[in-house]
Amino acid sequence: MSEKHLANPLREGLSTKAVPQPCAVVIFGATGDLTHRKLVPALYNIAADGELPPAVAVVGFARRPKTDDEFRKEMEEATRKFSRQTVRDEIWEGFAKSLYYHQSEFGDEAGYQKLAARLDRLDKESGTRGNRLFYFATSPEQFETIVENLKKAGLNKAREGSWARVILEKPFGTDLNSARHLNRVVQSAFSEDQTYRIDHFLGKETAQNILVLRFANAIFEPLWNTRYIDHVQITAAETLGVENRAGYYESAGALRDMVQNHLLQLLCLVGMEPPTDLGADSIRDEKVKVVRSLRRFTEAEVKTQVVRGQYAQGAINGQAVAAYRAENGVDPKSQTETYVALRILVDNWRWADVPIYVRVGKRLPKSGTEISVHFKKAPQVLFNRESQALDQNVLVIRIQPDEGISLRMQAKVPGTSFRIESVKMDFHYGTSFGKASPEAYERLLLDAMAGDATLFARRDEVERAWAFIDAIEEAWVAKEDAPKLCTYPAGSWGPEEADELLARDGRRWRRL
Ligand code: BG6
Repeated sequence: MSEKHLANPLREGLSTKAVPQPCAVVIFGATGDLTHRKLVPALYNIAADGELPPAVAVVGFARRPKTDDEFRKEMEEATRKFSRQTVRDEIWEGFAKSLYYHQSEFGDEAGYQKLAARLDRLDKESGTRGNRLFYFATSPEQFETIVENLKKAGLNKAREGSWARVILEKPFGTDLNSARHLNRVVQSAFSEDQTYRIDHFLGKETAQNILVLRFANAIFEPLWNTRYIDHVQITAAETLGVENRAGYYESAGALRDMVQNHLLQLLCLVGMEPPTDLGADSIRDEKVKVVRSLRRFTEAEVKTQVVRGQYAQGAINGQAVAAYRAENGVDPKSQTETYVALRILVDNWRWADVPIYVRVGKRLPKSGTEISVHFKKAPQVLFNRESQALDQNVLVIRIQPDEGISLRMQAKVPGTSFRIESVKMDFHYGTSFGKASPEAYERLLLDAMAGDATLFARRDEVERAWAFIDAIEEAWVAKEDAPKLCTYPAGSWGPEEADELLARDGRRWRRL
């Protein structure tokens, strides 16, 4: 069966032909953090919700020696700790039987031959039908070795009537060249149809709802352009610091870690044209057009349109917090940014002259991701006279937490006078639908099992996004007059320079 026939975006609730299929999920890096915190808990939750295909075998592949039973025990502890739903013993027992451990070095050819034999056995014993989903949850340095060995063992090719797919975790490269190289490596073994590059923000319920909001309602789209929109803000704020990831973060920084992928993906969903249909490629074709239309920063513009910052010591919720440079594993003279704010322009008819301000930061006072669309002011007549300037209408899409959408508008304060105030119309997922949203990884794993790549990044999207980011990174490094790294106290909303970025345009950041 060709991958194209399986693709069926926005599976739930719309047409429902593509269903997750029986398969073996092989997780490379099975003893790592991602497997413990996200992948196995997500698979358990899918099972608990009764959505797992009838036959799924999860094979953890890693270097350390371990028996199936030891692996199951370890995964049980992790799932009890990190699962969205409380683990129910009877469901866990059933689920645990489908967990297996395969010990091998990533570079050991024989280990992959044995894996192939084991997967064949599982097909017979568990009914996984020759379908394989390879999940690369290792550091990217291992990708090439794993791909090579999968190829040698013939595991990249599925038998007639079955499929083989690969899910790649971020970071997908560190710049355009490395991303291209990685793409070439992966595609020497797996076609683009078989390749699922994960961006977990796309699996978040509210991110998916952006398309529904825009294209399933008649009232927003006519206003969704430069005539009516003044500007857009996209914020991803975290109270967390670098945690135990200094090794990775020191060479990544906020721009590569969050903007190149998650934030640009959100920007594309907000900015794209209506797709011709809901096919994975139709949607991704439109997203990639947005990335292609992003105005590339010149070196001079990087100085004026981009602010980079790093947290100094401070306090969050009354707790003292160390400076980034004092964190474990961080160079005391580190130049890595933990905050970045950008004023982005999209050069197309819809968005001409509408700035899209994007900011992301660690150790901010509050965690939250949201997109706010600020509409132009009502004409300055009648109620909106200079003596009583009214606020703008603002549509806020809360990605997390408290997922929902609100619209700020003007209303008359009750009474005999004509006082006008801003009020909020609010939709909360929790109260409207009465059930918790699944974790992004749940949705994405199911989509990969169903062959639906809509919520995964395509090769051209990733490469174009890197080209945009590279121009900024290049201006930041190794130049005597490189833009400075600003500092901000942990627990503040970022450097003052980021406020000035908007103030220069007569605007300010929305308070989360
Ligand atoms: C990851 C970044 O991709 O996303 C982290 O590497 C960041 O630095 C995380 O903390 C945020 O994701 P979420 O889902 O917790 O908002």
